[in-house]
Amino acid sequence: MKGIILPATGPQAIHLAAETIKAGGLVAFPTETVYGLGCDAMNPDAAAKVFEAKQRPQFDPLIVHIADREQLHAVVTTLPTIAHRLMDAFWPGPLSLVLPKQATVPDLVTAGLTTVAVRMPNHPVARTLIREAGTPIAAPSANPFGYVSPTNAQHVSEGLGTNVDLILDGGPCSVGVESTIVSLVASQPEVLRHGSITLEQLTAVIGPLRRPSSERAMPIAPGQLTRHYATLTPLTILASAGTRPARGQDARAGLLIFSQASEEDSRFDAVEVLSPTGDVREAAHRLFAALRRLDALGLDRIYAEPCKEEGLGLAIMDRLRRCAAR
Ligand code: TXA
Ligand code: MG
Repeated sequence: MKGIILPATGPQAIHLAAETIKAGGLVAFPTETVYGLGCDAMNPDAAAKVFEAKQRPQFDPLIVHIADREQLHAVVTTLPTIAHRLMDAFWPGPLSLVLPKQATVPDLVTAGLTTVAVRMPNHPVARTLIREAGTPIAAPSANPFGYVSPTNAQHVSEGLGTNVDLILDGGPCSVGVESTIVSLVASQPEVLRHGSITLEQLTAVIGPLRRPSSERAMPIAPGQLTRHYATLTPLTILASAGTRPARGQDARAGLLIFSQASEEDSRFDAVEVLSPTGDVREAAHRLFAALRRLDALGLDRIYAEPCKEEGLGLAIMDRLRRCAAR
């Protein structure tokens, strides 16, 4: 039965998922960031199915997930010292490193690049699955291309349905925004995508990094495509926290805010409070599910408060801006 959701704790669930990966199938699985749509990273036919299931353009490379450092050598050729420092500090965890790739990694996985993005997720289900499959697992976020990433098994099912062989349900993702992507192939390390490991955390370990340039002619990390992580409902970012649109702008409007709603906010048709106490981690954890709930209401517009662009706030504002771009 395609698209079935199996609790990852159930007997044999991970085993069945690993067999599916080995046989060239597609398994959606939980990580600490978002759910991934996984396939055997060394099998080009399986990778082709991932692109098809997501309707993802083939110029957009996949992240390869590994369970332990031994698997790294199957995927990358050289490891600069700086890579060791970052792995020691942040693996397993939400940091993807772009490194020179082994010739055996299929071109489709890396979109023809000579580099590959690798990460070791910090989620027991993901790591057990990779280990049992006995191969690195290539996995983009398990959503149709361009839409909001999934942070629970139900989100995956709603977006991909029977395009995936099976969905391992490991509950909601603890972090809720995607991994940070750092490229180590140029002379200076460069952040390609803001994510759950903050710029401040990275800088503390390896010193200054180049920041993502938001407008590139060629998308090196298509998370950099301007419109991405997008709701179907148009989204507008408010000028500052606490400001609200003029009344009567839209027939039905939703509001996404970071801390307590005021009484006046009851004029909105729906209000999502990301963290009543203003905790940025909680806000990141709840962001995508809140966007999906608002998007399901058929509103005319979603208004989102901005948050401070520091720490995790950089990743949150990056996702909101891309969602708002038309
Ligand atoms: O947290 C995450 O990273 C999640 C979970 C499932 O691990 N995955 C994820 O994958 O967000 P995806 O495909 O939605 O985003 C991967 C990003 C893309 O923007 C892609 O372009 C970039 O990683 N990427 C992959 N390989 C790359 C490479 N060799 N050079 C530069 N960017 C690369
Ligand atoms: Mg994605």
